Amino acid sequence: MERDKLVYKLKEFQALEAYQVDLFQSQIKSLEDPHIKHAFERFTVREQEHEVFIKDQLYSFNGGTGIVGPAFKFAGMVTGKALDLLSLKDRLKLGIAVEQKAVQMYHEFIEMTRHDPQLKELNKYLSYFMIDEELHQFWFKEHLARIENIEAQPH
Ligand SMILES: [Fe+2]
Ligand SMILES: [Fe+2]
Repeated sequence: MERDKLVYKLKEFQALEAYQVDLFQSQIKSLEDPHIKHAFERFTVREQEHEVFIKDQLYSFNGGTGIVGPAFKFAGMVTGKALDLLSLKDRLKLGIAVEQKAVQMYHEFIEMTRHDPQLKELNKYLSYFMIDEELHQFWFKEHLARIENIEAQPH
């Protein structure tokens, strides 16, 4: 894989992971249910691990200098105060959408790096991280289903 292309992809993923960290971390304070709060805390730690790894990769391939291409922006990105206004169900739905996008991006990057022997280690970690993102998505889906199930029951 060409170095410039690789650096560009890593920049995209740095932005993706920074967004995920910010998305989960910024919601922790306003979550009431301890189980959900702990899940968001745990997810934040995971996304931070991803971000650190990607940053290290970027440093080693780019020598930590220069920026190739514009930083990636997440389409329809919801941040900061706007998140406080969302209901729990909408937060879970946003989590599902963001994780789905992350899984899709990881899947593409895994395919791009699959046949490059120099990127074998990177490819393995991308695969690990995609599974983390899948698990986040499953968790959000499961909790949304639970809430909807409770709501559907007669009172
Ligand atoms: Fe992540
Ligand atoms: Fe995630």
